[in-house]
Amino acid sequence: MPLIMFASPKGGVGKTTMTANIADALRRNGRRVMVMDFDPQNTLRLHFGVPLTDTAGFMADLPKRPDWRNLVRQTASGVMLLPHGAIDIRGALGLSSALERDPELLAAPLRAILADPGLLVIADTSPGPSHALNLLAPLASMVVAVLMADATSAALVPEIENGRFLGAGTMAALFAGRLRVVLNGVDPNARLSRASAETVARHLGPRLLGAMCREEVVAEALAAQRLLLDIAPTSRAAEDLREIARGIEAALPAVPDGLQAGWGAR
Ligand SMILES: Nc1ncnc2c1ncn2[C@@H]1O[C@H](COP(=O)(O)OP(=O)(O)OP(=O)(O)O)[C@@H](O)[C@H]1O
Ligand SMILES: [Mg+2]
Repeated sequence: MPLIMFASPKGGVGKTTMTANIADALRRNGRRVMVMDFDPQNTLRLHFGVPLTDTAGFMADLPKRPDWRNLVRQTASGVMLLPHGAIDIRGALGLSSALERDPELLAAPLRAILADPGLLVIADTSPGPSHALNLLAPLASMVVAVLMADATSAALVPEIENGRFLGAGTMAALFAGRLRVVLNGVDPNARLSRASAETVARHLGPRLLGAMCREEVVAEALAAQRLLLDIAPTSRAAEDLREIARGIEAALPAVPDGLQAGWGAR
């Protein structure tokens, strides 16, 4: 039932990497997890080993009102995946105007997915404003903003903190209460990275869920279309990831009795 949304006003900060690997970590903790890709780049699937040539997906087909159940992939990790699907410029414009006209096109299947009481849904979004972000934000139990440990991240903290990147006025204030932050790409040996991470941590206090170090194996995992905990479970980044997953887990309602995931799929 809970929805966690990874979002950021800035691109290339590690949202998709976090979505995929945190989902895997939470699945390993016994959660039944589904990830949904709301980004037209359609790359979340690559972390789960879906072939490049397999381009079918939910959002790309949305104007045709597909049954999402037929598009869910059962991945080797045990995490269920609803890919975005490949979309060209015409498709993207068509999707945007269809959602503008009829938000229920997405809201109705989302409600159906979230009605499953034992399911944890994790959404990956595109950077910046989008229809999907507007529709997801009010439904999310937690919005995790990903920031890079660089000079820009410190500048973005106020915008993240007041929820303005998710809405305006009172809505922004409402969403701000559900906002948590993860720092990515921290390099403890680089002065600027360390300084910006420390500034953000001081400013955000407990709203900072954790930090993940910059480590080549994170990018290598994606290149191999594998998950980090699979290929480098003892790496520093894997330890960081488990720590962030623990922070998220602590903020979520406990898995209802009898609704834990079985381990057969692993
Ligand atoms: N901690 C890390 N260490 C090393 N490389 C990383 C790390 N986190 C992410 N990367 C790499 O950085 C690149 C961008 O990551 P990712 O695609 O997850 O960002 P994103 O925020 O989803 O981007 P977009 O805004 O385009 O959707 C990828 O190649 C990924 O492998
Ligand atoms: Mg992404």
